[in-house]
Amino acid sequence: MRTQYCGNIRINDLNKTVRLCGWVHNIRNFSHFIFIDMRDCTGLIQIICTLKNKKIFNKALSLKHEFCIQVAGIVQNRSEKNINKNMKTGEIEILANTLNILNASEALPINYKIDNNNDLRLKYRYLDLRNLNIFENLKTRNNITYLIRQFLTKKKFLDIETPILTKSTPEGARDYLVPSRNHHGKFYALPQSPQLFKQMLMISCIDKYYQIVKCFRDEDLRSDRQPEFTQIDIEVSFMNSKKLRNLIEKMIVHIWSKIIHVKLSKFPVISYDESIKKYGSDKPDLRNPIEIIDIYDIFNNEKSISFFNLNIKKNNRIALLCIPKGAHLSRKKIDYYTEYVKQYGAKKLFYIKIINDNFNNNTVSSSIKNILDTVILKKILKISKAHIGDILFLIADEKYIVNQSLNMLRLKLGNDLKITNQNSWEPVWIINFPMFQKNAQGKFDPVHHPFTAMKDIDINQLKNAPNLAISDSYDLVINGYEIGGGSVRIHNASIQKQVFDIIGIDPYTQYQQFGFLIEALKYGAPPHAGIALGLDRIVMLLTNSKNIRDVIAFPKTTSATCLMTNSPSIIEKSILQELSIQVLQ
Ligand code: AMO
Repeated sequence: MRTQYCGNIRINDLNKTVRLCGWVHNIRNFSHFIFIDMRDCTGLIQIICTLKNKKIFNKALSLKHEFCIQVAGIVQNRSEKNINKNMKTGEIEILANTLNILNASEALPINYKIDNNNDLRLKYRYLDLRNLNIFENLKTRNNITYLIRQFLTKKKFLDIETPILTKSTPEGARDYLVPSRNHHGKFYALPQSPQLFKQMLMISCIDKYYQIVKCFRDEDLRSDRQPEFTQIDIEVSFMNSKKLRNLIEKMIVHIWSKIIHVKLSKFPVISYDESIKKYGSDKPDLRNPIEIIDIYDIFNNEKSISFFNLNIKKNNRIALLCIPKGAHLSRKKIDYYTEYVKQYGAKKLFYIKIINDNFNNNTVSSSIKNILDTVILKKILKISKAHIGDILFLIADEKYIVNQSLNMLRLKLGNDLKITNQNSWEPVWIINFPMFQKNAQGKFDPVHHPFTAMKDIDINQLKNAPNLAISDSYDLVINGYEIGGGSVRIHNASIQKQVFDIIGIDPYTQYQQFGFLIEALKYGAPPHAGIALGLDRIVMLLTNSKNIRDVIAFPKTTSATCLMTNSPSIIEKSILQELSIQVLQ
């Protein structure tokens, strides 16, 4: 039907006869001639229909936006004044000699050329995708998966599919369940990840596995979370965590270099503890150079503890951020940031404006004047390396509150005061996560998943003090986004059982849920390690998209619905009966 794509025609095609297919993007009628901006998946080209060819001209008069058309014509120069430098095809146009309407279009319910109501965009996603920006994101996504497949195939990884109808794998979210028709009352779970299958493949002697795979998690959604998302899932045998990280790092460097021509330098590696101490988070955005500074020791006296209203029985932290040249911040702005940190639990945000490096009650501007003197100020200046003109923001509270509040304040100030370098790339590996953390009920949960191996594990210590266990795990964080996570795995059945015991899975449930794994580990399971990278998040970063929806062809709303197909939907009674399911209202 066509000889060329609209967006690919250039000045060196001059005088060629071309046949194009696409849509009417825009029409302008100048009474003696009509301009049509015609669009296909490659972009736009200008078609000109002149009165000299009356038949075509009259047909062009009947065109409306988004009609699907076929045009044949001759590539001609645009006159000097009509050259459009913003268009790839801006130097030329097509003088139409044939115009076929392949299909008419009703007026569109959304104008995808301008921002629209999100719900409408999702209901008419197929029209929204005509927006070439989203289309470009999907092309980049395709280029990324192509590079990944090439890279991993060269390294002798095998792409192996794993089941979608399966058993629950605990990755921290709720499962999506599928009822079984043959086994009433029984359900499959859609995989939260192929974690156990890839471990089984290692036990089967498949040395290197990868899969670009859909995962399903019923969890609260955010701008970088979807209920079904795609992982680049990887597992290898006989490889330690350092080697695996190096391999993944090479792949990421390769992708960044090919897709956006950026050469990433060696990724720093920092421990979980260090990350929490310096940034209050295990997903630090290292584009922002500001670090959290501990000052508990400076204020560890009765007067200060009571000034800060700290409960000494709790695990407290007193820490600050030093914001260069921030002393100009107005009272109103400081109040605004105080309100901001309240969302994260901090009762108060204290400040010291460094106007003078000597304490003088008349000149110092601070909300902690009552407990400040020359000695303390000197100590603070020394530890924070603050200069005249800087502002210090302090929080004194329970440790987890200080961590999350200063983490969020650091990010906020980084953006507001343009401290964060938006044009840089800062990947970082976070390693040595604690193996377990206590949940609200005081029980241990695994910080990664329960199949994660521990470092220097002493079986007795694990039994007596699980809180001290450090896992052999790693997360890859880029510009503050968690791009991937993985670990060395437990390959010993009794350690695996012990971990299940610690997290409170009783022996019967262990047998029911993970009996196949425990048994498989008994048949010479090799040491193995792996990782899963979030493909959608990688595409988000590389296309500079703010929402994960912009990199997925058919995404779901924040309440996990598909507005285009109207799912989830009510199922006919007869089908439910066949599945032996009754819906309670
Ligand atoms: P984890 O749960 O850390 O690890 O997931 C790996 C990566 O997947 C991405 N991700 C998501 N992306 C979009 N929407 C979501 N709802 C979502 N949830 C996770 C993140 C994350 O870093 N089986 C382990 C990996 C392993 O140990 O090998 C796992 O799934 O980028």
